[in-house]
Amino acid sequence: MNKLSGKTAVITGAAAGFGKATAFKFASENVANMTLVDLNENGLLETQKEIAQKYPSCKTIIVKADVSDEAAVKGFVERTVETFHSLDIIFNNAGIEGHAAKIADMPFDMFKRDLAVNLHSVFLGMKYAIGYMKDHGGGVIVNTASIGGLVALPGSCGYVATKHAILGLTKNGAAEYGKDGIRVNAVCPGFVMTDLHARVLKGLTGGAPEDVKKMIEDNSNATPMGRYGKPEEIADLVLFLASEDSAYISGVAIAIDGGFTVL
Ligand SMILES: NC(=O)c1ccc[n+]([C@@H]2O[C@H](COP(=O)([O-])OP(=O)(O)OC[C@H]3O[C@@H](n4cnc5c(N)ncnc54)[C@H](O)[C@@H]3O)[C@@H](O)[C@H]2O)c1
Repeated sequence: MNKLSGKTAVITGAAAGFGKATAFKFASENVANMTLVDLNENGLLETQKEIAQKYPSCKTIIVKADVSDEAAVKGFVERTVETFHSLDIIFNNAGIEGHAAKIADMPFDMFKRDLAVNLHSVFLGMKYAIGYMKDHGGGVIVNTASIGGLVALPGSCGYVATKHAILGLTKNGAAEYGKDGIRVNAVCPGFVMTDLHARVLKGLTGGAPEDVKKMIEDNSNATPMGRYGKPEEIADLVLFLASEDSAYISGVAIAIDGGFTVL
């Protein structure tokens, strides 16, 4: 249980879902220090408290920040380095489901908002983390994309544009900084029940319990493995990519979707 011993990590979206599950996974592998970032301060406090109880040797700081804001991202990267004197791993994960609309119906403002939260955030996280890592012996970057980075999801054009673009940034980061000891990879989850996915289900169905249940069944049936993924399963993949277990893997996008994208 020492895959991340002595390491310092930044996790965005750490108040819930994949970010929170990954914070626990990293702590269970003895990560030394973590900066937990989110807009949801109460959720961050909860994550921090639970980690302190279960993994008392893991040091954490929490930062309430909007990942689409350049000064905020620069700020939490700098604060990490000032506090812990290192930065080895960044998990650029915070994101939203985006505005639900087909292209012709998509208000340009909403499209730009999707780009700001889901894509600018990853660019900024990479930019400022790489700025430090390249002069300090390298590091590891894991970006959260989606099955929407690999295939179309009709009615989610903004989301799909951001998630495909994240894969481009991931490849460019790997190509530009491999010789500086920096690896960059992306995870592409399928259906996983989180706050974000619950909002998607409510939006698509109107929220009636029987309609939500039916949509979960439909999504499960559209998945070769016949079920949803779990946040802990996504966290296992992030850990693999963040650790030396994946020492020669860079620039890839790994689908973790129960086979959804093979069909
Ligand atoms: N749940 C799924 O089925 C699924 C599938 C594929 C990809 N994803 C992606 O996984 C990532 C995490 O999603 P999740 O399912 O864990 O959702 P979640 O809603 O449970 O967690 C996302 C967290 O990000 C935070 N956040 C949102 N906007 C922010 C901002 N501007 N600044 C800082 N924090 C912000 C939220 O407060 C929340 O705590 C997202 O990028 C999402 O697109 C989710």
